[in-house]
Amino acid sequence: MDKPTTFQHGKFKASAVHRLDFSELTLTRYEYVKNFEMSEILLPNTWIVVRIDGRGFHKLSAHYAFSKPNDRCALDLMNYAATHTVQSLSDVTIAYGVSDEFSFVFHKATTLFERRREKIVSTVVSTFTAAYVLAWGRFFNQPLDTNMLPTFDGRAVCYPSWENLRDYLNWRQVDCHINNLYNTTFWALVRKGEMAATDAEELLKGTVSGDKNEILWSRFGINYNNEPDMFKKGSVVLREYALEDFPAPEPGEPLSKTQADKQRKARQKAKVITLHLDIIKDDFWFQRPWLKTGKPGKSV
Ligand code: GTP
Ligand code: MG
Repeated sequence: MDKPTTFQHGKFKASAVHRLDFSELTLTRYEYVKNFEMSEILLPNTWIVVRIDGRGFHKLSAHYAFSKPNDRCALDLMNYAATHTVQSLSDVTIAYGVSDEFSFVFHKATTLFERRREKIVSTVVSTFTAAYVLAWGRFFNQPLDTNMLPTFDGRAVCYPSWENLRDYLNWRQVDCHINNLYNTTFWALVRKGEMAATDAEELLKGTVSGDKNEILWSRFGINYNNEPDMFKKGSVVLREYALEDFPAPEPGEPLSKTQADKQRKARQKAKVITLHLDIIKDDFWFQRPWLKTGKPGKSV
């Protein structure tokens, strides 16, 4: 194949070096480089959790003047991007988000991208980031600066049992609660109590939840229980089906390709909703058996 003419007339003179003759350089001579590619397959039959996290959001939140300790628009935008990600990837059964992070749970039976780690993680991260950046203007009046663009990292962890997966999600929700109670108390002391940040930090050192609730109530008349659920409990993004009142049966035999395609289509049709509720209690999971079985529930 001849090189394009621009190549020959530009600042490079046409020469034997620049005018490569690809017909002589057969593909096979170079193809061996593919052997250097390593791909890791995520352990079969395990729940895959991909957690994305905003890069440098401490700085980014200051740059765009997010409200402290919680910015509703920023959280709504995170939830929007997560909803888009769940809609785009029908193998995600549930996602849970708080602050600048979101965890996406892939059903243990997923065969998406042959369970290749890099494909799964990079697809989740870019799908989420694309939606976050595209929708920024819907949630914030001020445009994005090219020198402060939101980016996210991502990692995948495999959990071998349902209990491990539940504990992972419990851990994230407890973390949300502890951070939010701390931040709510800290900012009440600084803003309402006009305390220096270092003094507020000192006061809160070694306190337990009860102490912080007491500070909020006795000093500022704030009942922590009345704080918005989105701040206290984080956000759960999932497909909406009719709630049931029995626990999930154990997943049965692996599905045939036709059955799997049918279920994928059903999942794609379901509405994806965002809730702010306790996911530590068994009730949440009992009412939504499809999260464990992966089988779509009854439409509402
Ligand atoms: P890396 O993730 O390591 O890159 O650092 P990071 O700066 O993103 O910190 P990290 O992920 O540990 O924590 C998220 C940070 O984002 C918080 O510490 C806050 O500073 C900021 N942030 C997240 N959500 C909000 C919000 O609603 N309001 C405000 N003001 N800040 C927020
Ligand atoms: Mg971060």
